[in-house]
Amino acid sequence: MFTPPPSPQPARTSGPTVTPESLSQERQERFASAQASKRYIGRRFRMAVILIPVLVIFLTARLSYVASRVVEKTAEPVVPLSWHGREENSNWRHHKRHPEPQTQVSSPAASSPTSTSTSSAATPSPTATPPSAQPLPTIPSSPPAALPTPFLQPFDGGIAQNFSSLSCSNFFANMTNSAPFRQCRPFSLLLQGSNAFVDAQSNLTLMNAIIYGTCNTTPGISQCESNMAWFAGALKSACSSELGNNNALAASTLTALQAFSVMYDAACQADPTTNSYCYIEAIHNTNPSDLYYYALPLDITVPNSTVPTCSQCSKSVMGVYAASLKDANQKPLLTGLSQTYDPAAQLTVQYCGADFAQTSVVSAALVSFGRPPWIVAVAVGVISSLLMGLSS
Ligand SMILES: *[C@@H]1O[C@H](CO)[C@@H](O)[C@H](O)[C@H]1NC(C)=O
Ligand SMILES: *[C@@H]1O[C@H](CO)[C@@H](O)[C@H](O)[C@H]1NC(C)=O
Ligand SMILES: *[C@@H]1O[C@H](CO)[C@@H](O)[C@H](O)[C@H]1NC(C)=O
Ligand SMILES: *[C@@H]1O[C@H](CO)[C@@H](O)[C@H](O)[C@H]1NC(C)=O
Repeated sequence: MFTPPPSPQPARTSGPTVTPESLSQERQERFASAQASKRYIGRRFRMAVILIPVLVIFLTARLSYVASRVVEKTAEPVVPLSWHGREENSNWRHHKRHPEPQTQVSSPAASSPTSTSTSSAATPSPTATPPSAQPLPTIPSSPPAALPTPFLQPFDGGIAQNFSSLSCSNFFANMTNSAPFRQCRPFSLLLQGSNAFVDAQSNLTLMNAIIYGTCNTTPGISQCESNMAWFAGALKSACSSELGNNNALAASTLTALQAFSVMYDAACQADPTTNSYCYIEAIHNTNPSDLYYYALPLDITVPNSTVPTCSQCSKSVMGVYAASLKDANQKPLLTGLSQTYDPAAQLTVQYCGADFAQTSVVSAALVSFGRPPWIVAVAVGVISSLLMGLSS
C-alpha cells in the first residue's frame, strides 16, 4: 500500500532536487568511503547510537573498559524480501549503487576502543593531547581551512541493513546518495551514525570546522528542514514494515530525521562569553557531561548518575528543547526528546537549581509510546558502568 508522506510535498517540486553533477561526484566519494570502511559495516552504527556521548568521556578518561560492555542488539523478525508494489515518481535519480550485502558483522564486544577510529591509515595515538588540553577554538567567521572536503556523511561506515523490504533498502541507498540529503549535513544523523564524526571528537580544530559546516549549509536551514521532513515521510512509507518490526536502523533514522531542526539549533548554539560553539565547549570541558544533552533528541538519556556542569550552554540547549516541545508542530516529531527531556530536566534542576531548566514539559501532556525497553536498558547499563569506572 502506498502511504503518502504525511508532510506537504515540497519534494516533488520545490523539495530535494538532484543534479547529475553533484550526484555523480558524491557517488564517487560515497563509494570510496564505503569501500574503505566496509569492514566496519554493521557494528559501527549501533555502537555509535549508544556510545557517542560515552566515547568522548571514554577517550578523555582513557578507560579501556567500555567495549566489552556493549550488548549486541536483540534479533529482529525478518520476513522475506518483498516488493511492495509502490509505483511512485521518485524524484531521486536512478542509480545503480546498492548497499553492499552485509556478510561480516563482527561483535562489538570484540572491538577495542581504538577500532572505532576511521579506516584511515593513522590510528590516533592514545597519548594524543586530550580535547580538554587543546585550545578552545572560536566560531569561524568564514569557512575554515579545516572544513573537510568532501564533508563527512552519516552512514559513512556503510549501512548494516537488516531490512525486510526492498523498498526500505532502496530508500536508504537513495537517500544517502542524494544531494538534498548530503548537502544538508544533518548534525542529528552525524551524531547518531558517522564514524568520521566520532573520530573528530579528539581534534577540536577539526570538530569546530565540522560544526561550522553543519551550521552553514548551502541550501539554507528552511530548505534543509523541508528536505529532511520529506525524507522522513518517504522513510515511513518505504520502511513501514521495518518500523512495524522495530527495526533499529529504520526507527533511529526516522527519529534523527525528525529531530533535524532541533538538533541543528542545539549544535549551533554559541557561548557569547567565549564566542565558541557550545558543543565544542562540551568536548573541551574536563567534565564532558554536557555532551549528553546533545543526544537527548536521539532518545539517549542523561544517566542519573551524571553530575551536570550547570553551564550556560547546557541551560540554553535545554531551553531550545523546551521551546520545541511546547511547539505543537514540532512536538509530535520529537519522539526521542519526548522520552528523555523530563528526566534530564529533573536531574539538571537537582544540581543546578530550579531556574536552570523547565521541568514537566512533556509529562504535562504525556503520551507514552515508542521505544523498546531494551534500548533503555542497554544504554543505561553501558553509561552507568562507564561512570562507575570513571569514579573508581
Ligand atoms: C538481522 O536479523 C537477524 C534475524 O533476526 C539477526 O540474526 C541478525 O543478527 C541481524 N543482523 C544485524 C546486522 O542486525
Ligand atoms: C530508489 O531508487 C530506485 C532506483 O532508481 C527506485 O527503483 C526506487 O523506487 C527508489 N526507492 C524509493 C524508496 O524511492
Ligand atoms: C586536527 O585537525 C586539523 C584539521 O583537519 C589538522 O590540521 C590537524 O593536524 C589535526 N590535529 C591532530 C593532532 O590530528
Ligand atoms: C537513578 O534512577 C534510579 C532508578 O530510576 C533511582 O532509583 C535512583 O534514585 C536515581 N538516582 C538519582 C541520584 O536520582
